[in-house]
Amino acid sequence: MSRLCHSLLWAALLASPAAAQNLDSLLARMTLEEKLGQLNLLSANGRASPEQMQLVRAGKLGGLFNVIGAENTTPVQRIAVTESRLKIPLLFGLDVIHGYRTIFPIPLAEAGTFDPEVAEATARAAGAEAAAAGINWTYAPMVDIARDPRWGRIAEGSGEDPYLGSLMAAARVRGFQQSIFATVKHFAGYGAAEAGREYNETEISERTMREIYLPPFKAAVDAGVASVMSAFNDIAGVPSSGNAWLTDTVLRREWGFKGFVVSDWTSVAELMQHGIAGSQAEAGRRALTAGVDMDMQSGIYIDALAALVRSNRIPMAVVDTAVMHVLRAKLYLGLFRDPYRARPQPASAELRALARRAANESIVLLKNDRGLLPLAKTATIAVIGPLADSKEEPLGPWHTQGQAQDVVTVLQGIRSRASGVQVVYAQGAGVEDTSTAGFAAAVAAAKRANVAVLVLGERGDMSGEAASRSSLGLPGVQQQLLEAVAATGTPVVLVLMNGRPLIVEWASDHVPAILETWFLGVEAGNAIADVLFGDVNPSGRLPVTFPRVLGQVPIYYNHRNTGRPYDANNKFTSKYIDVPNTPRYPFGFGLSYTTLAYSDLKLSAPRARVTDTVTATVTVANTGKREGTEVVQLYVRDEVASVSPRVRELKAFQRVTLKPGESRAVSLRVAVRDLWFIGLDMKPVVEPGTFHVYVGPNSAEGLETSFECIP
Ligand code: NOJ
Repeated sequence: MSRLCHSLLWAALLASPAAAQNLDSLLARMTLEEKLGQLNLLSANGRASPEQMQLVRAGKLGGLFNVIGAENTTPVQRIAVTESRLKIPLLFGLDVIHGYRTIFPIPLAEAGTFDPEVAEATARAAGAEAAAAGINWTYAPMVDIARDPRWGRIAEGSGEDPYLGSLMAAARVRGFQQSIFATVKHFAGYGAAEAGREYNETEISERTMREIYLPPFKAAVDAGVASVMSAFNDIAGVPSSGNAWLTDTVLRREWGFKGFVVSDWTSVAELMQHGIAGSQAEAGRRALTAGVDMDMQSGIYIDALAALVRSNRIPMAVVDTAVMHVLRAKLYLGLFRDPYRARPQPASAELRALARRAANESIVLLKNDRGLLPLAKTATIAVIGPLADSKEEPLGPWHTQGQAQDVVTVLQGIRSRASGVQVVYAQGAGVEDTSTAGFAAAVAAAKRANVAVLVLGERGDMSGEAASRSSLGLPGVQQQLLEAVAATGTPVVLVLMNGRPLIVEWASDHVPAILETWFLGVEAGNAIADVLFGDVNPSGRLPVTFPRVLGQVPIYYNHRNTGRPYDANNKFTSKYIDVPNTPRYPFGFGLSYTTLAYSDLKLSAPRARVTDTVTATVTVANTGKREGTEVVQLYVRDEVASVSPRVRELKAFQRVTLKPGESRAVSLRVAVRDLWFIGLDMKPVVEPGTFHVYVGPNSAEGLETSFECIP
């Protein structure tokens, strides 16, 4: 497949009379059971079971997922294309989220690179590795906007911002679809689960849905994504897997989506638990008629819908439409021509190099008092903490075929980088331990050292699916471990490894240096050591706000102003009496080993029409002593509009690498038509008036100017 424009390719394919005729005649030859079979998707357990092979033979399965390895996909595909009556090939799906065997940083970490090219490259590599193992369809990218760090799946997406999320979504779709189908998920609003509790209900207004939650899906569709996965959650009582407004009105009619919609795991059957269907058949009817083409794992379409079609309670045309979505996708992927899709294994050295680069760029320097970092390569370093020598946890959630043995730990990374350095190691405690028995050894190690590197945080499985937390502190006795080590007086570098924003108030006040490293994958230890020793100057930025206390959640930068915006001197303004409104670390934040200065912000014109593009130019100077990469960020605020505007919205950014002393004019372009919001009539609109433009290092700082949008 070309990377150029998948949507155009879809259009060309669908317009091709020969292809259309072939599929039409195939459809005409299908029995109702064979049609429903194409809509049936089941999970294997590494390999297809004898019962599943029988279903394939009988034409009652459209695809399988969790079949691992070409040695297992090939025989079952052979059954499909040689033994089934119509010889329709199967889709082979898998959750290739941030790597197949070579595990890259979790998507949240990678969003912090603010580098869509890196996201595209890792998705391309992951897709290529999966394709070599017989996979032709991944359940990624996950693009759910998440504003609540209690929700464990925040790790799988790109954070809180729709603009950054959209760029990352499109990049990942382009990357995966070099070799396999992508699935954008979970459609829609899953990230808004109330109280961050997994699978919980959501209340999302249509305006917020369209302005915040839907844009990354739209970007994926525009990038030609082949499939969309419907979500588990309900939106104001209407479950996403039976929600015609989402899967038909918005997705098909407004956006012109040409691929197929797959349910999430048993989310069709779960319509009964939601209480909107009293039987399997009703659940299936509701999902299929809403536009969910393929039923993942419920088995309801194949088991319960034929009777409804025969009694005209589901029109045959509805079934035919869904079947055609699936068949066209198979045709588009080339499965009829080349069902086995034997693909070469990508070179391991290149995969590892890419994993290291992505990990390097993902690391966010949160604090660095008195230049404690980078570390000298001649010191004695105490490496402490439950995650310091962990081979499993840097893989993070959803690491499919990733192996602990492939992981370079932080301890290994430090040891291999620092030949002149003496390293002493103590685990101190396990991630969720309640015992402090290991503290004495940790404290002793710190006392012997010039600096203590503490690697603390979460286990990989504490984020991802079904991993909501009700507290955001360091689990177990890790906070006490940190305080005990800090009490030795040895300067502490806190290396955080986690899948969500954590609350790190004490550390932010007392620890001189903090690195946010998320879960970085197989090259975690090398990438972290690169940054610790200054071989790489950190350039990651936070793709999500870090709160001070849990009570501030949900907290995000692009909020509205309220009628009583914060005023320190006025009690009756929107605030808490016990904590500031500001976050601990704002969206877009991240430090560098060098210092940067912004000056001379100018716009290309003081006035612009909706059809115009405005260019902001700012001078960015590296005023420090090292080369560094800055993420120059541009935010806009609509001053007055018919709907209360958000205080800032990210509209452009650029990574710029500057040598010491170098200064450069950086230009960022914004199309005025992209400054839309959902108006009173629920349609996108750009209203004339003043737009403030902020350009700076994060969502809370920056130079300011403005322009007038004229009619
Ligand atoms: C459930 C998860 O919600 C979804 O993201 C995943 O793709 C499916 N299971 C299949 O594993």
